[in-house]
Amino acid sequence: MANNRLDQVVSTIVEAVRGAVRDENISFEEYRAAIGYMMKIAESGELPLFIDVFLNTSIVSVINQNAHPAASPSDMEGPYFLDSAPVLEDGKMKTMDAYADDQPMIVRGTVKDVDGQPLADVLVDMWNSTPDGKYGGIHEGIPVDYYRGKVRTDAQGQYQFESTVPVAYKIPDSGPTGALLEMMGRHSWRPAHVHLKVRHPGYRDLTTQLYFAEDEYTHSDCCEGIVPEQFIYPELIEDGKRVLEADLVIEPQAESQMAA
Ligand SMILES: [Fe+2]
Repeated sequence: MANNRLDQVVSTIVEAVRGAVRDENISFEEYRAAIGYMMKIAESGELPLFIDVFLNTSIVSVINQNAHPAASPSDMEGPYFLDSAPVLEDGKMKTMDAYADDQPMIVRGTVKDVDGQPLADVLVDMWNSTPDGKYGGIHEGIPVDYYRGKVRTDAQGQYQFESTVPVAYKIPDSGPTGALLEMMGRHSWRPAHVHLKVRHPGYRDLTTQLYFAEDEYTHSDCCEGIVPEQFIYPELIEDGKRVLEADLVIEPQAESQMAA
């Protein structure tokens, strides 16, 4: 039996690409070169990276378009979320002693529903890069339970994490995706950011990111990320620790999603 949704989506994509071919007067040589480059990307195993760089942000836009107006903006999850992150009783993440100049950071806030009511016992995950742009359990030398963890909100809906300030880092740029960005005159940097994921029964999952106002890539993300204004933080220091205050608003899950 024909899948109407699939037919509609594929037809729309093909028509959009045909439109681009016409608009840009694509020559046969350019068409062949594009096929050759796609083969190169597939053979290098970078197809997921390539698609994420150009399209993940659009998928997030669709999520935000359909979200409740009071809900916090979603952002890309990225490839480094691990559901096996440790539960942190006190919110303090393990960080490496090797980084002598790292700057302590506190990320805190309240999880609320769309009516502004605080929500207790909500699961909040946070993960962020080391001071040299690596992730625990992903990059060599950083154990899996470092720079990531999960907490639950208290009776007032509040959560808090302690980690160290992350840095801007390059997406993998040694393969054809990085080469393509370079040929296009673009860079491969993502701005420094903190990843958050909020989960609570009966509510839609919220995955988002927090950014730093002083970072030179905050407004030129190579992945053209969402970077919501409310999640860009000017420098606030308390007792030598960089503080990011992020209230997170989650919305009830649609009944159709609950049944799925
Ligand atoms: Fe990241």
